[in-house]
Amino acid sequence: MLIVDTLAHKETSEVPFWFMRQAGRYLPEYKKVRAQFPNFLEFCYTPEAACEVTLQPIDRFGMSAAIIFSDILVIPHALGANVWFEEKKGPQLTPILSKDQLKELSINHVENKLAPVYEAISLTRKKLAADKALIGFCGSPWTLACYMVEGKGSRDFASVRSLALRDKEFFAKLIQLLAEAVLLHAKNQIKAGANIIQLFDSWSGVLSEPEFEAWVIDPTEMIVAGLNEAYPHIPVIGFPRMSGDKMFHYAVQTQVNAINFDHSVSLDYARDVLQPQVVVQGNLDSILLADDKEAALAQAKHIIGTLGKKPFIFNLAHGIVPHTPIAHVEALCELIRTAK
Ligand code: CP3
Repeated sequence: MLIVDTLAHKETSEVPFWFMRQAGRYLPEYKKVRAQFPNFLEFCYTPEAACEVTLQPIDRFGMSAAIIFSDILVIPHALGANVWFEEKKGPQLTPILSKDQLKELSINHVENKLAPVYEAISLTRKKLAADKALIGFCGSPWTLACYMVEGKGSRDFASVRSLALRDKEFFAKLIQLLAEAVLLHAKNQIKAGANIIQLFDSWSGVLSEPEFEAWVIDPTEMIVAGLNEAYPHIPVIGFPRMSGDKMFHYAVQTQVNAINFDHSVSLDYARDVLQPQVVVQGNLDSILLADDKEAALAQAKHIIGTLGKKPFIFNLAHGIVPHTPIAHVEALCELIRTAK
């Protein structure tokens, strides 16, 4: 598998690539399957449907890896939190704010409740070409806690930061529970056939340095150590989104095999600081890809020119947005495929 070779620091003849949210609403074939499920979580928990939409972008564009169709919020859901998705509003949760509410969450049912995700992974691994990797994923504890405490998305996640400062003991317990659940869910995905794990810490960028240490680095370090112990050959990609120059310390401390970087750091930083330490994955702007094809292609060329000489996986800085024209994605794939 091209991407696994790159993660093992082997020379490859092509640049491996995949895109965050490569299965999604920019694809008409995704919208067709999506329309059959008014309830988004039910869609995630239907193995045949999840497998179908996971494979759609591979069939169309031939990326080097598929990422299993699921969501980061299946973990809070499996722990017993109330989670639902509302059209145009995104994810909604009943906030977990007290020790009593925390006591009602339990890791004991995670494995059972997420069995459909594992079934989707086994099914997809069977159908996916042998040279393509299947990526399993989890939200990282901090980002999951953000949604669980706020009850929805937020610009700055000020109330969860505030709660973590006011009641550190409560918050540390929540993070600990989440870290255990993430480790369990990631291990089960590997058991079911995932070849790589990506940890999404979408909201790590709102944290100060000491908070980043406590809520991002420490739990991620524990998760990566647990995975390395059980599955030493499975690479882990960390995505501490928008965390800027804290990324280097994250890479060193957590021992992830690769880091997905975004535009909170420069390409020079990625090449000179990150790349000597870890494999790098990134970082084309998904808005640019949607709205200016020629500029996106020029930037993609520049990214590969800067990072392509050492182990590098082409990806975006964040997920593909729904208004992205398919022709732009096609042109980008063609460029990456012929770049070396
Ligand atoms: O193709 C893939 O990348 C795999 C599937 C995937 C989804 N969500 C499917 C999804 C992955 C890896 C995720 C991760 C995820 N989910 C993250 C981390 C990455 C990031 O974007 O920062 C986060 C924060 C979530 C939580 C979440 N799920 C939000 C905020 C939303 C609403 C956003 C939107 O675009 O509406 C979701 C819903 C969701 N998860 C969709 C998809 C394809 C869109 C829902 C739909 O089809 O109606």
